[in-house]
Amino acid sequence: MKKRIFSAIQPSGRLTLGNYLGSIKNWIKMQEDYDCIFSVADLHTITVRQNPENFRKNILETYALLLACGLDTKKCIFFIQSHVREHSELAWILECFSPVGDLSRMTQYKDKSNRYSENVNAGLLTYPSLMAGDILLYDTDLVPVGKDQKQHIEFTRNLAIRMNGIYGEIFKIPDAFIPNVGAKIMSLKDPSKKMSKSVESDATIGILDDEDIILKKIKRCVTDSGSKVRFTQGSLTGINNLMTIYSSIKNVSFDEIEKEFENDGYGKFKEQTAKAIIEKFTPIREKFSQIMKNKDYLLREFENNAKIASEIAARKVKLVREKIGFI
Ligand code: AMP
Ligand code: TRP
Repeated sequence: MKKRIFSAIQPSGRLTLGNYLGSIKNWIKMQEDYDCIFSVADLHTITVRQNPENFRKNILETYALLLACGLDTKKCIFFIQSHVREHSELAWILECFSPVGDLSRMTQYKDKSNRYSENVNAGLLTYPSLMAGDILLYDTDLVPVGKDQKQHIEFTRNLAIRMNGIYGEIFKIPDAFIPNVGAKIMSLKDPSKKMSKSVESDATIGILDDEDIILKKIKRCVTDSGSKVRFTQGSLTGINNLMTIYSSIKNVSFDEIEKEFENDGYGKFKEQTAKAIIEKFTPIREKFSQIMKNKDYLLREFENNAKIASEIAARKVKLVREKIGFI
């Protein structure tokens, strides 16, 4: 039996290089060897106020862009979260087993309630319960995510263990699966912060950015006062970040990079890093614009995939309802 993988990504803006190296790249690889289910987590996104028109566009584009990156619905199930009602249903049930103390200690909750202090809604707090539902609905073994999501997976495990303790075996206990290199790509302007898709700026490279923009952003990105292309373990420097990007795209080690650029300064290394990103993203951008022209195909894909996911999810919700005592 192949292991079951579940992961999701929010349609909260245009996907970035961070998303690509931190998760999408691994998803593409994993569909070959695992039983994969992937989702566009639109329910999660409304914890931050969305403009409806913009939101609709982001959901569709995120779905299309992931197909363009290489998700293949012949090899995995790939659906839009809100199309499978069981996610909302299980989320409510799980909220009733989620200690508010644990929820309020989540780093993402603390960050977002600071950042969006004018709208600290209940969903921002219970976000991890919804995410736990996503994972637990499908008897997931492994959840490939970036480092920032590890805490939510821990929360999911504890919740599942707690409920199994009360009701007997309902849920499989999932593990996080975090890539070694590329798990956290940092902002090009401030290498102590993560590259984030909700802040579009020179600090972030979008998968759909065109070539000139990528080159310009990499050339202007923050490096340090040094000039050697050297990786300094454990420090959050611009050069470490660029080396992480290069290493992850080209599948080469830091040692190999140091050797390759032994006699070069930052300028040459930046150029080559930009080139590597451009080579990776140009074909994706072209495929994306093809897919976006074929709305019927897109609609067919996400409808079919939601149906398949629903069948699995409905079985799990039925079991949970029975165990809890709903009639
Ligand atoms: P988000 O953009 O927060 O919806 O994240 C979607 C996925 O991409 C999650 O698995 C994140 O952990 C991952 N991710 C987001 N930003 C980065 C980043 N800067 N570096 C690595 N992975 C990231
Ligand atoms: N919260 C995740 C993020 O922001 C997205 C997500 C939603 C997710 N549901 C999930 C990731 C289930 C893994 C599994 O990155």
